[in-house]
Amino acid sequence: PHVVILAGGLSHERDVSIRSGRRVAEALRAAGHTVDVLDVDANLIPTLSASQPDLVWPLLHGASGEDGSLRDILELLDLNYLGTRPRESRIGWNKPVAKSVLGAAGISTPQYVTLPQSLFRELGAQSVMGAVVSKLGLPLVVKPARGGSALGVTLVKDANALPQALVDCFAYSELALIERAVSGTEVAVSVIDTPSGIEALPPVEIVTDGPYDYDARYNPGRTQYFTPARLSADLIAEVQSTAITAHKALGLRHISRTDMIIGEDGTIWFLEVNVAPGMTETSLLPQSVVATGSSLAAVYSGWVEAVLA
Ligand code: DAL
Ligand code: MG
Repeated sequence: PHVVILAGGLSHERDVSIRSGRRVAEALRAAGHTVDVLDVDANLIPTLSASQPDLVWPLLHGASGEDGSLRDILELLDLNYLGTRPRESRIGWNKPVAKSVLGAAGISTPQYVTLPQSLFRELGAQSVMGAVVSKLGLPLVVKPARGGSALGVTLVKDANALPQALVDCFAYSELALIERAVSGTEVAVSVIDTPSGIEALPPVEIVTDGPYDYDARYNPGRTQYFTPARLSADLIAEVQSTAITAHKALGLRHISRTDMIIGEDGTIWFLEVNVAPGMTETSLLPQSVVATGSSLAAVYSGWVEAVLA
């Protein structure tokens, strides 16, 4: 089959997307597929319309790639694509919205508030800081409500650092998510729709000696990963089941990745889902695939075949 991978785009995660695209293209070519990698520009719609690929695999991270708008275009063009539909992308990609949907579905997620930049400006840094810290306590995590790869994310240990963290966050998103920081073991579970049902891959455990930031994510050797995570069989089953619940409750399609922290008391805290999980050399989903003992070529090609079947 002829597969078109979409990679690049103009989000802050452009470089990550190019790396994801390159890696998936290599794997699919190794499995014998004809693969073109296209960026998002004025040629995209004419090229897609003219070439009529069997399948489009959007590997655009960040806004437009994950917020559903590019997938709206794929729907407009009546193209077959791998991944979540536009409506569900919009919901899943928005961190506070996903947290409230999953909170209602009975999943634990750290307590939070959202704060738009305009409201922060109107209310003033001092009063926001006082109200937020007295309700949520410290430490806090400030993150863009819509964004990825930890860009604009700050761990706030001291109340006085909150305003600056918000300003840094607003560089990436006009809506900030301020969340109570939970400590514990950070794990990511990828979920796949297979012909025989929804399947969770082995959890990846993430161990860093500092924040799991952009640098720690994409520079090989900066972070230690354990796949499967060094957890009891019961906990492995539990994080896998949480990720499957998130995938279903949010209506995600084909592939997703759910990021969680297992607290010291065993609580599984949902942090976020990824509609277009990273597929780079250091990304989490590919590590889970490799841990199953199969090659990326065989597995990615299997997903393509399953969508086309
Ligand atoms: N946002 C990046 C690509 C990830 O979650 O893997
Ligand atoms: Mg993410």
